[in-house]
Amino acid sequence: MIENQLRQWLFRLAPERAHELAMHALEALGRMPRTRAWLWPDSAQLDPMLRQSLWGLDFAHPLGLAAGFDKDARALPALAAMGFAFVEIGTVTPLPQPGNPSPRLFRYPAEEAIINRLGFPSEGMLRVRERLAGYGRLAIPVGINLGKNKQTPLERAVEDYVQLLRALHPFADYWVVNVSSPNTPGLRQLQSLAALRPLLARLRELRIELAGEATVRPLLLKIAPDLASEEIQEIGSLAGEAQPLLEGFIATNTTISRPHDWPHAAEAGGLSGRPLRQQALAVLRTLHGTVRGRVPIIGVGGVTSAADAYERILAGASLLQSYTGWLYRGAPMLQELTSTLPELLRRDGFANIAEAVGQGN
Ligand SMILES: Cc1cc2nc3c(=O)[nH]c(=O)nc-3n(C[C@H](O)[C@H](O)[C@H](O)COP(=O)(O)O)c2cc1C
Repeated sequence: MIENQLRQWLFRLAPERAHELAMHALEALGRMPRTRAWLWPDSAQLDPMLRQSLWGLDFAHPLGLAAGFDKDARALPALAAMGFAFVEIGTVTPLPQPGNPSPRLFRYPAEEAIINRLGFPSEGMLRVRERLAGYGRLAIPVGINLGKNKQTPLERAVEDYVQLLRALHPFADYWVVNVSSPNTPGLRQLQSLAALRPLLARLRELRIELAGEATVRPLLLKIAPDLASEEIQEIGSLAGEAQPLLEGFIATNTTISRPHDWPHAAEAGGLSGRPLRQQALAVLRTLHGTVRGRVPIIGVGGVTSAADAYERILAGASLLQSYTGWLYRGAPMLQELTSTLPELLRRDGFANIAEAVGQGN
């Protein structure tokens, strides 16, 4: 109730001002003891059929917070207590950078959508490392989403990802290589196999070296929804190689397509939220058709309900993420998803999520 009123008030402010205020509030909440019990009183009552173990990590249910909300890990303790099964921070870049000039974030409340061209504003990996070191271990898995600095030439992008891995490795339960943001010039060219193979091979070698005796942390590749089917299949084939260069995929990032009659439609940026749903679902289906369960896929893009989540699981997603839907709907969305999803699984005779993954394709 209070959360709902707060959200309505925040939506009256300019988008970035609202985000900044929300971040301050979450940072303060994260410092309070017993935050978890207060924010998410029902965590113990989650249906066990929603549980999964993937990459050696435990997920109490399938929904996580997508990258981009907490780019610098400022609000991680509070976010970890808000009912998400996992949180992905970032995109983190090696050096601090301001991102694009404002305005760079446009809201479409009626469509539950956002267009953004933030362009990876980041406090840089050293500040993020400091914060993560201060938090200690959190109760849920934390992913770290990595991106290159704008000023780094594309042919030297590997060096940026290498620096990020070295600086942040004790803190990542999983890594995400983000080569799909539309807001860093040239970045999406790294989605070609010719660029991906050497990049992922170098990062694999480094992950093994950094792990030492410990378990090698999984690396997921986050792809754009604007790829052609052949490109998606090519990327998906990376999971089928004798020595796979990655352990999972995230489908998808924001799209550069949009309805042409929207205000600001002509401006550069990526569209997220409900209007992305069908496109992200179609990409997931194509990707799953190639990957065939060899590695898990996280489905993201316009997920706002248990029905969306179930549709995505049947299409091949083991886990889900949300950003825009959660921004508009808040905690009730998480509650609806975690309470209704078990009913949908049971209705169709599945004992748990793992059994349902890809069964609708
Ligand atoms: C304001 C905003 C900032 C984002 N920043 C990032 C980012 O830094 N890195 C990234 O990989 N994805 C970023 N995303 C994309 C989301 O993680 C997600 O892939 C996309 O929004 C689709 O999911 P949704 O429809 O649930 O929002 C951002 C999205 C929004 C709306």
